[in-house]
Amino acid sequence: MTFWYLLLAAAALIALSACVYVTRRIHRFTPIKRLGERHALLSWLVSLCPLAAPALFYIINVYSAAIVLMHMALFLLISDGVCRVIEAAKKKKLRRDLAGVIALGLAAVYLAAGWYQAHHVWVTRYEFETDKSLGGDIRVVEVADSHLGITLDGEDFAREMEKVRSAKPDVVVICGDFVDDDTEKEDMLTACRALGQLDAPYGVYFIYGNHDKGYFRYRNFTSRELRDALAENGVVILEDETADVDGRFLLIGRQDRSTPDRADMMALTEGLDPEKYHIVLDHQPNDYAAEAEADVDLVLSGHTHGGHIFPAGLIGLAMGSNDRVYGTEERDGTRFVVTSGISGWAIPFKTGTFSEIVVIDIRERD
Ligand SMILES: [Fe+2]
Repeated sequence: MTFWYLLLAAAALIALSACVYVTRRIHRFTPIKRLGERHALLSWLVSLCPLAAPALFYIINVYSAAIVLMHMALFLLISDGVCRVIEAAKKKKLRRDLAGVIALGLAAVYLAAGWYQAHHVWVTRYEFETDKSLGGDIRVVEVADSHLGITLDGEDFAREMEKVRSAKPDVVVICGDFVDDDTEKEDMLTACRALGQLDAPYGVYFIYGNHDKGYFRYRNFTSRELRDALAENGVVILEDETADVDGRFLLIGRQDRSTPDRADMMALTEGLDPEKYHIVLDHQPNDYAAEAEADVDLVLSGHTHGGHIFPAGLIGLAMGSNDRVYGTEERDGTRFVVTSGISGWAIPFKTGTFSEIVVIDIRERD
């Protein structure tokens, strides 16, 4: 708990510093400086006006406001750095008004692109081959990290499921963080009904992420109600369990890494038919060594949101929080896929990535 309080205090301090920096930087614009010579208070009030942008995003939540503020400060800081380099090279002082305006304009464009990348859902396709017998090609659609309520409400989620339907999957897997603490019950129920209307022949499977069961107690539905809504719509929840899908392949759904008693990979795969194709669903991509050692064929994860806000993914990778942030790789014969998710937690921008549904075709090697 102390760690989180320290993190919160550091974030508040950074946000306050960003506020001060942006305001002081705007106050140095020539017209505002001139205004200050006659009306000091008025010039400071005008300097505060750009902070209306983060204040507006506070309507969504405090994280959105912080992201907007941080990007304004960062782009101004970069423009000041560039000006300083040019001043040093030319050995003369520049008027930085234009650089400041361009910096704020670029920040707005950058965030607008991030907004679009978070709200538009792309379809990403992969094709993998296997020496194992599958009884024909298999198409799996992976959907993760809908975090209902931030970029997608229940109706939006239902509309996005049209893309899943058009992909004509054999099986659909929901790889965690379907909901979080801020999801409304109505959105959860609508999204569960949408899952129930998918007509994949082998059905819809679900694993829990770290947010699905809720960290706090303020949302208006319980974990039990989520479980019941999924079950009523025919969605199969796998919690350290294996489903033999029509005798063709095995789906091994893991509990989230945050679950204290989750089974290890060796225990999960013990006794399974090694001739069958093994697909593991694991919300957080950070047990790659064990999963490769267990000799499974494919591991599907989410959780990272593909980095969400640049450069968070790279920092996470450097800190060893995840084995992979986005995309696919093969380790010791095991294929891994991490999706950036159909949405993401709390922040309605994606500057490090985009929202997606993943369609995977698995074929028998000729
Ligand atoms: Fe997660």
